[in-house]
Amino acid sequence: MQRVTLSRFLIEQQREGGHLPPQLRLLIEVVARACKAISYTINKGELGGVLGSLGQENVQGEVQKKLDVIANDLLLEANEWGGNLAALASEEMEAIHPIPNRYPKGEYLLVYDPIDGSSNIDVNLSVGTIFSVLKAPEEASGREVTEADFLQAGRHQVAAGYAIYGPQTTLVLTFGKGVFGFTLDREVGSWVLTQSNITIPADYREFAVNMSNHRHWAPEVQRYIQDCMAGKDGPRGEDFNMRWTGSMVADIQRILTRGGIFLYPWDAREPGRAGKLRLMYEANPLGMIIEQAGGAATDGTVRILDIEPVGLHQRVAVVMGCREEVEKATGYFRAAQ
Ligand code: AHG
Ligand code: MN
Ligand code: MN
Ligand code: MN
Repeated sequence: MQRVTLSRFLIEQQREGGHLPPQLRLLIEVVARACKAISYTINKGELGGVLGSLGQENVQGEVQKKLDVIANDLLLEANEWGGNLAALASEEMEAIHPIPNRYPKGEYLLVYDPIDGSSNIDVNLSVGTIFSVLKAPEEASGREVTEADFLQAGRHQVAAGYAIYGPQTTLVLTFGKGVFGFTLDREVGSWVLTQSNITIPADYREFAVNMSNHRHWAPEVQRYIQDCMAGKDGPRGEDFNMRWTGSMVADIQRILTRGGIFLYPWDAREPGRAGKLRLMYEANPLGMIIEQAGGAATDGTVRILDIEPVGLHQRVAVVMGCREEVEKATGYFRAAQ
């Protein structure tokens, strides 16, 4: 079988679909190239001196791992000079990063989580990179981009994707016309198309949630999970399995592959019912991918992609995965309102 590389796939999408403008194609190529560099860096592990923490916190109040900052800088440096972007924003940078005047500016905005699942780096479990692409508002051309230009609902994303650095390094992409998966061929150094039109299987009963937070959840979330755990003899009449990797990308990859549901509900410790996960660079891109794969993504009641952001680092509750199962879960939440 003839191998389709990412470059060929993107060029063919540009030619045939008409939905992939050349500047967006080049931007995706650059992000994918940076993910390759991140993959090689992670792979070196202790030998590359890249494990462990830095003695500083990010804007989220989390202690930064060395790799959080290395991956952030790799993505920044790869994208800054290419002429495709007006500005970037990242989990690891408090403020947006407008393209410096010494480089040409493009029409897109890139938002990313350089390493998702940071707590897994030092224990050699899967981590990933998540990214979301928005268009800079037209009236922003000719002036400096501001944070407000980024605050667009997720339905306005023109592309979203993630890479996973696991047993294989894989890349999953959508431009709003299906979900495609690529595997990194390390010897050749290229991404090869390995899955087309990914859809979430509907018939596997598996939930992903951090059970240690159970006592902090709203009663309806506790009830939903209890009913799943009651198995065949409970109200759901089926046995459920559970997985929680600590890397949202890896949990979402599993759901794309074999089905199930992912929840990070708000809990009593957080003011304003905000969840832990971040809307702009976790929930929105993964929500777009999940929807494009036939699934559903909500905060428990509202569609993630319809939430109007009010801040770059805004947090949100997340319930996403197989459509039927998300509808079951949100039924519990609606009943409680
Ligand atoms: P990040 O490493 O980018 O800060 O994200 C971690 C997120 C997400 O990937 C994961 O699902 C969740 O936090 C894990 O949370 P717990 O520590 O509660 O397990
Ligand atoms: Mn973090
Ligand atoms: Mn993350
Ligand atoms: Mn991160």
